[in-house]
Amino acid sequence: MRIGVLTSGGDCPGLNAVIRSVVHRAVVDHGDEVIGFRDGWKGLLECDYLKLDLDAVGGILARGGTILGSSRVQPSHLRDGVERAKGHVEELGLDAIIPIGGEGTLKAARLMSDSGLPVVGVPKTIDNDIAVTDVTFGFDTAVGVATEALDRLKTTAESHQRVLVVEVMGRHTGWIALHSGMAAGAHAIVVPERPFDVDELTRKVGERFEAGKRFAIVVAAEGAKPRAGTMEFDEGGKDIYGHERFAGIARQLSVELEGRLGKEARPVILGHVQRGGTPTAYDRVLATRFGWHAVEAVHRGEFRADDRAAGHRHRDGVVGRGRGDAEDRAGRSVRRGGVCSLRPPRP
Ligand code: F6P
Repeated sequence: MRIGVLTSGGDCPGLNAVIRSVVHRAVVDHGDEVIGFRDGWKGLLECDYLKLDLDAVGGILARGGTILGSSRVQPSHLRDGVERAKGHVEELGLDAIIPIGGEGTLKAARLMSDSGLPVVGVPKTIDNDIAVTDVTFGFDTAVGVATEALDRLKTTAESHQRVLVVEVMGRHTGWIALHSGMAAGAHAIVVPERPFDVDELTRKVGERFEAGKRFAIVVAAEGAKPRAGTMEFDEGGKDIYGHERFAGIARQLSVELEGRLGKEARPVILGHVQRGGTPTAYDRVLATRFGWHAVEAVHRGEFRADDRAAGHRHRDGVVGRGRGDAEDRAGRSVRRGGVCSLRPPRP
Protein backbone atom coordinates (compact mmCIF):
# COMPACT_ATOMS: atom_id res chain seq x y z
CA MET A 1 0.00 0.00 0.00
CA ARG A 2 1.00 3.62 -0.39
CA ILE A 3 -0.03 5.89 2.46
CA GLY A 4 0.19 9.69 2.74
CA VAL A 5 0.51 11.33 6.16
CA LEU A 6 0.13 14.99 7.07
CA THR A 7 0.02 17.12 10.21
CA SER A 8 -2.27 20.12 10.10
CA GLY A 9 -3.42 22.89 12.44
CA GLY A 10 -1.65 24.00 15.61
CA ASP A 11 1.27 21.74 16.54
CA CYS A 12 1.14 19.51 19.58
CA PRO A 13 3.65 17.42 21.54
CA GLY A 14 3.34 13.84 20.24
CA LEU A 15 2.86 14.57 16.54
CA ASN A 16 6.25 13.11 15.71
CA ALA A 17 5.44 10.03 17.76
CA VAL A 18 2.36 9.43 15.58
CA ILE A 19 4.36 9.90 12.37
CA ARG A 20 7.04 7.49 13.62
CA SER A 21 4.46 4.94 14.65
CA VAL A 22 2.68 5.09 11.29
CA VAL A 23 5.99 4.50 9.51
CA HIS A 24 7.04 1.66 11.81
CA ARG A 25 3.73 -0.14 11.54
CA ALA A 26 3.20 0.48 7.84
CA VAL A 27 6.73 0.12 6.47
CA VAL A 28 8.21 -2.49 8.81
CA ASP A 29 5.19 -4.62 9.62
CA HIS A 30 3.14 -4.31 6.43
CA GLY A 31 5.78 -3.52 3.82
CA ASP A 32 3.95 -0.32 2.80
CA GLU A 33 5.38 2.86 1.41
CA VAL A 34 4.72 6.07 3.35
CA ILE A 35 5.05 9.64 2.18
CA GLY A 36 4.63 12.77 4.29
CA PHE A 37 3.10 15.98 2.96
CA ARG A 38 4.82 19.17 4.05
CA ASP A 39 2.90 21.79 6.03
CA GLY A 40 -0.41 19.98 6.34
CA TRP A 41 -3.09 19.99 3.63
CA LYS A 42 -1.00 22.63 1.85
CA GLY A 43 1.52 19.89 0.95
CA LEU A 44 -1.20 17.72 -0.54
CA LEU A 45 -2.66 20.65 -2.46
CA GLU A 46 0.75 21.58 -3.83
CA CYS A 47 2.05 18.02 -4.18
CA ASP A 48 4.92 18.85 -1.86
CA TYR A 49 6.03 15.70 -0.05
CA LEU A 50 8.93 13.57 1.12
CA LYS A 51 9.45 9.85 1.48
CA LEU A 52 9.12 8.65 5.06
CA ASP A 53 11.26 5.62 5.79
CA LEU A 54 12.86 4.38 8.99
CA ASP A 55 15.78 6.76 8.61
CA ALA A 56 13.46 9.74 8.21
CA VAL A 57 11.74 9.01 11.53
CA GLY A 58 14.87 8.03 13.47
CA GLY A 59 15.21 9.87 16.77
CA ILE A 60 11.95 11.84 16.53
CA LEU A 61 9.92 10.10 19.24
CA ALA A 62 10.87 12.59 21.93
CA ARG A 63 10.91 15.65 19.72
CA GLY A 64 8.21 18.29 20.01
CA GLY A 65 6.62 19.94 16.97
CA THR A 66 6.28 18.04 13.72
CA ILE A 67 9.03 17.07 11.28
CA LEU A 68 6.49 17.53 8.48
CA GLY A 69 5.61 21.10 9.37
CA SER A 70 2.04 22.32 9.72
CA SER A 71 -0.29 25.05 8.52
CA ARG A 72 -3.90 26.03 8.97
CA VAL A 73 -4.66 25.79 5.24
CA GLN A 74 -7.67 23.54 4.57
CA PRO A 75 -8.75 22.26 1.13
CA SER A 76 -12.14 23.89 1.64
CA HIS A 77 -10.45 27.31 1.81
CA LEU A 78 -9.77 27.08 -1.91
CA ARG A 79 -12.49 26.87 -4.53
CA ASP A 80 -10.91 23.89 -6.27
CA GLY A 81 -9.16 22.56 -3.12
CA VAL A 82 -10.91 19.22 -2.77
CA GLU A 83 -10.69 18.44 -6.48
CA ARG A 84 -7.03 19.39 -6.52
CA ALA A 85 -6.28 17.19 -3.52
CA LYS A 86 -8.17 14.29 -5.13
CA GLY A 87 -6.16 14.71 -8.30
CA HIS A 88 -2.88 14.52 -6.38
CA VAL A 89 -3.98 11.45 -4.44
CA GLU A 90 -4.67 9.68 -7.74
CA GLU A 91 -1.49 10.98 -9.35
CA LEU A 92 0.61 9.71 -6.45
CA GLY A 93 -1.21 6.37 -6.35
CA LEU A 94 -2.15 6.74 -2.68
CA ASP A 95 -4.32 4.05 -1.09
CA ALA A 96 -5.02 6.15 1.99
CA ILE A 97 -4.40 9.47 3.68
CA ILE A 98 -3.83 9.81 7.41
CA PRO A 99 -4.35 13.45 8.41
CA ILE A 100 -3.30 14.17 11.99
CA GLY A 101 -5.02 17.24 13.31
CA GLY A 102 -7.69 18.96 15.34
CA GLU A 103 -11.09 20.47 14.76
CA GLY A 104 -10.45 22.08 11.36
CA THR A 105 -8.30 19.24 10.06
CA LEU A 106 -10.83 16.58 10.91
CA LYS A 107 -13.63 18.61 9.33
CA ALA A 108 -11.50 18.77 6.19
CA ALA A 109 -10.94 15.03 6.53
CA ARG A 110 -14.66 14.51 6.46
CA LEU A 111 -15.00 16.66 3.38
CA MET A 112 -12.32 14.62 1.65
CA SER A 113 -13.87 11.39 2.79
CA ASP A 114 -17.31 12.49 1.58
CA SER A 115 -15.78 13.16 -1.80
CA GLY A 116 -14.67 9.54 -1.99
CA LEU A 117 -11.10 9.68 -0.71
CA PRO A 118 -9.83 6.96 1.65
CA VAL A 119 -9.13 8.82 4.90
CA VAL A 120 -8.43 7.74 8.47
CA GLY A 121 -8.02 10.69 10.83
CA VAL A 122 -5.91 10.95 13.94
CA PRO A 123 -7.24 13.47 16.48
CA LYS A 124 -4.76 15.95 17.93
CA THR A 125 -4.96 18.90 20.29
CA ILE A 126 -3.47 19.94 23.60
CA ASP A 127 -6.96 21.16 24.54
CA ASN A 128 -8.32 17.59 24.94
CA ASP A 129 -11.65 18.52 23.36
CA ILE A 130 -12.16 16.23 20.38
CA ALA A 131 -15.27 14.14 20.74
CA VAL A 132 -14.05 11.07 18.89
CA THR A 133 -11.59 10.28 21.66
CA ASP A 134 -11.70 10.51 25.44
CA VAL A 135 -8.18 11.84 25.58
CA THR A 136 -5.81 13.50 23.13
CA PHE A 137 -2.03 13.33 23.11
CA GLY A 138 -0.36 16.64 23.96
CA PHE A 139 -2.80 17.35 26.78
CA ASP A 140 -0.70 15.64 29.44
CA THR A 141 2.39 17.56 28.33
CA ALA A 142 0.53 20.89 28.30
CA VAL A 143 -0.89 20.27 31.77
CA GLY A 144 2.61 19.47 33.04
CA VAL A 145 4.04 22.69 31.60
CA ALA A 146 1.17 24.78 33.00
CA THR A 147 1.41 23.13 36.41
CA GLU A 148 5.12 23.79 36.67
CA ALA A 149 4.55 27.42 35.69
CA LEU A 150 1.82 27.79 38.34
CA ASP A 151 4.10 26.32 41.01
CA ARG A 152 6.74 28.88 40.09
CA LEU A 153 4.27 31.75 39.94
CA LYS A 154 3.07 31.08 43.48
CA THR A 155 6.39 32.06 45.01
CA THR A 156 6.66 35.35 43.15
CA ALA A 157 2.98 36.16 43.80
CA GLU A 158 3.53 35.59 47.51
CA SER A 159 6.67 37.73 47.64
CA HIS A 160 4.76 40.68 46.17
CA GLN A 161 1.34 40.01 47.73
CA ARG A 162 -0.25 39.93 44.32
CA VAL A 163 -3.11 38.34 42.52
CA LEU A 164 -1.82 36.56 39.41
CA VAL A 165 -4.34 35.74 36.72
CA VAL A 166 -2.75 33.00 34.65
CA GLU A 167 -4.14 32.40 31.17
CA VAL A 168 -3.76 28.89 29.76
CA MET A 169 -4.84 27.52 26.38
CA GLY A 170 -8.34 26.24 25.81
CA ARG A 171 -10.60 27.96 23.34
CA HIS A 172 -13.76 25.94 23.88
CA THR A 173 -12.94 23.89 26.94
CA GLY A 174 -11.21 24.33 30.25
CA TRP A 175 -9.47 20.97 30.59
CA ILE A 176 -5.95 22.43 30.81
CA ALA A 177 -7.12 25.13 33.23
CA LEU A 178 -8.94 22.62 35.42
CA HIS A 179 -6.19 20.01 35.53
CA SER A 180 -3.24 22.37 35.98
CA GLY A 181 -5.21 24.51 38.41
CA MET A 182 -6.13 21.51 40.52
CA ALA A 183 -2.62 20.08 40.35
CA ALA A 184 -1.06 23.35 41.48
CA GLY A 185 -3.72 24.24 44.05
CA ALA A 186 -5.00 27.39 42.32
CA HIS A 187 -7.44 29.50 44.32
CA ALA A 188 -9.94 29.96 41.49
CA ILE A 189 -10.33 28.49 38.01
CA VAL A 190 -12.50 29.93 35.25
CA VAL A 191 -13.41 27.94 32.13
CA PRO A 192 -15.26 28.56 28.84
CA GLU A 193 -17.99 26.02 29.59
CA ARG A 194 -19.53 28.23 32.28
CA PRO A 195 -19.45 32.04 32.25
CA PHE A 196 -18.08 33.08 35.62
CA ASP A 197 -19.61 35.43 38.17
CA VAL A 198 -17.17 38.30 38.76
CA ASP A 199 -18.73 39.22 42.12
CA GLU A 200 -18.32 35.68 43.39
CA LEU A 201 -14.75 35.49 42.11
CA THR A 202 -13.88 38.82 43.75
CA ARG A 203 -15.43 37.67 47.02
CA LYS A 204 -13.46 34.42 46.97
CA VAL A 205 -10.14 36.08 46.31
CA GLY A 206 -10.94 38.88 48.80
CA GLU A 207 -11.77 36.36 51.55
CA ARG A 208 -8.39 34.80 51.04
CA PHE A 209 -6.61 38.07 51.73
CA GLU A 210 -8.91 38.79 54.68
CA ALA A 211 -7.91 35.43 56.14
CA GLY A 212 -4.32 36.62 56.15
CA LYS A 213 -3.08 34.95 52.99
CA ARG A 214 -0.60 37.01 51.01
CA PHE A 215 -1.40 36.08 47.41
CA ALA A 216 -3.89 34.45 45.08
CA ILE A 217 -3.61 32.52 41.85
CA VAL A 218 -6.53 32.54 39.41
CA VAL A 219 -6.27 30.22 36.41
CA ALA A 220 -8.26 31.28 33.35
CA ALA A 221 -8.73 29.23 30.19
CA GLU A 222 -8.27 31.62 27.26
CA GLY A 223 -11.90 31.15 26.15
CA ALA A 224 -13.40 31.87 29.59
CA LYS A 225 -15.89 34.74 29.73
CA PRO A 226 -17.64 36.63 32.52
CA ARG A 227 -21.39 36.32 32.83
CA ALA A 228 -22.93 38.85 30.42
CA GLY A 229 -23.27 42.36 31.83
CA THR A 230 -21.18 41.73 34.98
CA MET A 231 -18.01 43.48 33.79
CA GLU A 232 -16.84 45.30 30.71
CA PHE A 233 -15.37 42.65 28.49
CA ASP A 234 -13.84 42.63 25.04
CA GLU A 235 -14.29 39.20 23.46
CA GLY A 236 -11.90 39.85 20.57
CA GLY A 237 -12.57 38.66 17.04
CA LYS A 238 -11.73 35.99 14.51
CA ASP A 239 -8.59 35.31 12.52
CA ILE A 240 -8.48 34.65 8.77
CA TYR A 241 -9.35 30.98 9.37
CA GLY A 242 -12.38 31.82 11.52
CA HIS A 243 -10.64 30.91 14.79
CA GLU A 244 -11.21 33.04 17.86
CA ARG A 245 -8.54 35.62 18.54
CA PHE A 246 -9.27 36.48 22.13
CA ALA A 247 -8.67 39.97 23.48
CA GLY A 248 -7.14 38.46 26.63
CA ILE A 249 -9.06 37.21 29.62
CA ALA A 250 -6.02 37.45 31.94
CA ARG A 251 -5.34 41.07 31.13
CA GLN A 252 -8.97 42.14 31.48
CA LEU A 253 -9.66 40.12 34.60
CA SER A 254 -6.51 41.29 36.37
CA VAL A 255 -7.50 44.93 35.77
CA GLU A 256 -10.99 44.19 37.10
CA LEU A 257 -9.77 42.36 40.20
CA GLU A 258 -7.18 45.01 40.99
CA GLY A 259 -9.86 47.70 40.83
CA ARG A 260 -12.32 45.74 42.92
CA LEU A 261 -9.90 44.40 45.54
CA GLY A 262 -7.38 47.19 45.80
CA LYS A 263 -4.65 44.56 45.50
CA GLU A 264 -1.95 44.50 42.90
CA ALA A 265 -2.84 42.08 40.12
CA ARG A 266 -0.86 40.91 37.09
CA PRO A 267 -1.78 38.91 34.01
CA VAL A 268 0.45 36.00 32.98
CA ILE A 269 -0.15 34.45 29.57
CA LEU A 270 1.49 31.04 29.19
CA GLY A 271 0.71 30.83 25.47
CA HIS A 272 2.60 28.57 23.08
CA VAL A 273 5.08 27.35 25.66
CA GLN A 274 2.31 24.84 26.47
CA ARG A 275 2.61 23.38 22.97
CA GLY A 276 6.39 23.29 22.72
CA GLY A 277 9.05 20.82 23.73
CA THR A 278 9.27 17.13 24.36
CA PRO A 279 6.09 15.13 24.99
CA THR A 280 5.60 13.28 28.26
CA ALA A 281 5.89 9.49 28.31
CA TYR A 282 2.10 9.25 28.49
CA ASP A 283 1.66 11.37 25.35
CA ARG A 284 4.33 9.42 23.47
CA VAL A 285 2.58 6.15 24.24
CA LEU A 286 -0.88 7.47 23.34
CA ALA A 287 0.39 9.02 20.10
CA THR A 288 2.18 5.79 19.19
CA ARG A 289 -1.01 3.81 19.74
CA PHE A 290 -3.03 6.24 17.60
CA GLY A 291 -0.56 5.90 14.73
CA TRP A 292 -0.58 2.11 14.98
CA HIS A 293 -4.38 1.93 14.93
CA ALA A 294 -4.68 4.37 12.04
CA VAL A 295 -2.53 2.06 9.91
CA GLU A 296 -4.60 -0.92 11.02
CA ALA A 297 -7.80 0.86 10.01
CA VAL A 298 -6.25 1.59 6.60
CA HIS A 299 -5.44 -2.10 6.17
CA ARG A 300 -8.94 -3.09 7.17
CA GLY A 301 -10.21 -0.67 4.53
CA GLU A 302 -12.30 1.25 7.02
CA PHE A 303 -12.91 4.48 5.18
CA ARG A 304 -16.09 5.75 3.65
CA ALA A 305 -19.52 5.00 4.99
CA ASP A 306 -17.65 3.40 7.80
CA ASP A 307 -15.11 6.21 8.25
CA ARG A 308 -12.78 5.87 11.15
CA ALA A 309 -10.53 7.90 13.34
CA ALA A 310 -8.06 6.44 15.75
CA GLY A 311 -9.26 7.23 19.24
CA HIS A 312 -9.29 6.18 22.86
CA ARG A 313 -12.60 5.14 24.34
CA HIS A 314 -13.21 4.57 28.03
CA ARG A 315 -15.60 1.73 27.33
CA ASP A 316 -12.99 -0.86 26.52
CA GLY A 317 -9.97 1.05 27.74
CA VAL A 318 -7.99 0.52 24.58
CA VAL A 319 -7.22 2.56 21.55
CA GLY A 320 -9.74 1.46 19.04
CA ARG A 321 -12.12 2.53 16.40
CA GLY A 322 -14.08 5.72 16.93
CA ARG A 323 -17.49 4.67 15.69
CA GLY A 324 -18.99 7.37 13.58
CA ASP A 325 -22.47 7.21 14.98
CA ALA A 326 -21.43 6.95 18.59
CA GLU A 327 -22.19 9.44 21.33
CA ASP A 328 -19.41 10.27 23.72
CA ARG A 329 -19.67 10.70 27.45
CA ALA A 330 -20.38 14.40 27.26
CA GLY A 331 -23.19 13.71 24.83
CA ARG A 332 -21.42 15.33 21.92
CA SER A 333 -22.32 13.52 18.78
CA VAL A 334 -19.51 12.01 16.83
CA ARG A 335 -20.40 12.05 13.20
CA ARG A 336 -18.28 9.75 11.15
CA GLY A 337 -14.87 8.73 12.34
CA GLY A 338 -12.12 11.25 11.91
CA VAL A 339 -14.78 13.79 11.28
CA CYS A 340 -16.24 14.44 14.63
CA SER A 341 -18.52 17.18 15.74
CA LEU A 342 -16.50 19.46 17.96
CA ARG A 343 -19.00 21.31 20.05
CA PRO A 344 -17.85 22.43 23.48
CA PRO A 345 -19.25 20.09 26.12
CA ARG A 346 -22.09 21.48 28.16
CA PRO A 347 -21.25 22.31 31.78
O1 F6P B 1 -6.32 24.20 19.61
C1 F6P B 1 -5.05 24.24 20.10
C2 F6P B 1 -4.63 25.64 20.47
O2 F6P B 1 -3.39 25.53 21.11
C3 F6P B 1 -5.63 26.42 21.30
O3 F6P B 1 -5.60 26.09 22.65
C4 F6P B 1 -5.24 27.83 21.02
O4 F6P B 1 -6.32 28.71 21.17
C5 F6P B 1 -4.84 27.78 19.58
O5 F6P B 1 -4.43 26.46 19.33
C6 F6P B 1 -3.75 28.76 19.26
O6 F6P B 1 -3.51 28.71 17.90
P1 F6P B 1 -2.36 29.50 17.14
O7 F6P B 1 -1.13 28.65 17.22
O8 F6P B 1 -2.87 29.62 15.75
O9 F6P B 1 -2.18 30.79 17.84
